[in-house]
Amino acid sequence: MPKINFVKADGGVIAAEVSVGTTILQAAEDNNIGLSGPCGGNLACGHCHVVIDEQWSDKLPKPEEAEESLLDMVWNAKPTSRMGCQVRITSELDGIVVHLPQQ
Ligand code: FES
Repeated sequence: MPKINFVKADGGVIAAEVSVGTTILQAAEDNNIGLSGPCGGNLACGHCHVVIDEQWSDKLPKPEEAEESLLDMVWNAKPTSRMGCQVRITSELDGIVVHLPQQ
């Protein structure tokens, strides 16, 4: 199973093994990482904001327009920010590094 390395704001790393097809948000919720998605993945809340490590961001499909629009409203967004509910893990993403922004 692919592994996601979640990097917390304090620098601590939590590794989570997930099934292919799992979203980053689902993986975080299943492993009590401290990321939430109150809108249920409908691109309405922005709470699932994560920053993909630069070495990995090019491996992801580009965000759809609706995701881009929401990212534009996130106060601490970075160039490699994504909504965790929109990124599904594939076997090619095994080892991906995902930073949890300061809340
Ligand atoms: S869960 Fe609300 S935008 Fe991702």
